[in-house]
Amino acid sequence: MPRATEQLRDERFARLVSEAAACHRCSMMCDRRPVLSEKNGPTNARILFIGEAPGRHGADQTRVPFSGDQSGRNFARLLASTGLERDRIFITNAVLCNPRKPSGANRRPTAREIANCSDFLRRQIETIDPTIVVTLGRVALAALGRIEYHRFSLREHVGRICHWNGRLLVPLYHPSPQVLISHRTEREQMRDYRAIGRALRSCGEDR
Ligand code: URA
Repeated sequence: MPRATEQLRDERFARLVSEAAACHRCSMMCDRRPVLSEKNGPTNARILFIGEAPGRHGADQTRVPFSGDQSGRNFARLLASTGLERDRIFITNAVLCNPRKPSGANRRPTAREIANCSDFLRRQIETIDPTIVVTLGRVALAALGRIEYHRFSLREHVGRICHWNGRLLVPLYHPSPQVLISHRTEREQMRDYRAIGRALRSCGEDR
């Protein structure tokens, strides 16, 4: 199918941004601002990354996914190891708002919050129409499964090129400090990230 024209894509994206801004589906996040704007990346990106949720010291403040906090700094190093420039990728999250505990600390989004945001995620993927989707962590991988069922798991498919819903999918670990310390070292993650280059080359998008 031919890609939508630039103008149509930008119109669809603008609609998505304003609908997300007006969304009040999650009772515990009604006072949050969704992190979705032109700051997420170019709408003509060929590669789309999905994280878990905006962090309170990071994207919730900067309005740019994976920036301003330790996860963002880790992600920047891992991305740099692929040679891919940040301004060539689009980055979003499984949920667009920052989930917090009553104490104010970040928390995992609930299954209900992920379900509530799943239509926004599906529409972002359809609008950007990337050749390659990269999931960062278990929550992002599971969120894709709500859009089109899959049986991929991080344990079995990390750093492998999978086929999902007519696109290439590269499941990767989340770049949070906890994951780097206890599940997947930076060195292992850098090895996993090489799959992105292979995926780009396999579909001629590496130029
Ligand atoms: N920042 C994000 O935007 N997403 C995450 O998953 C973590 C930090």
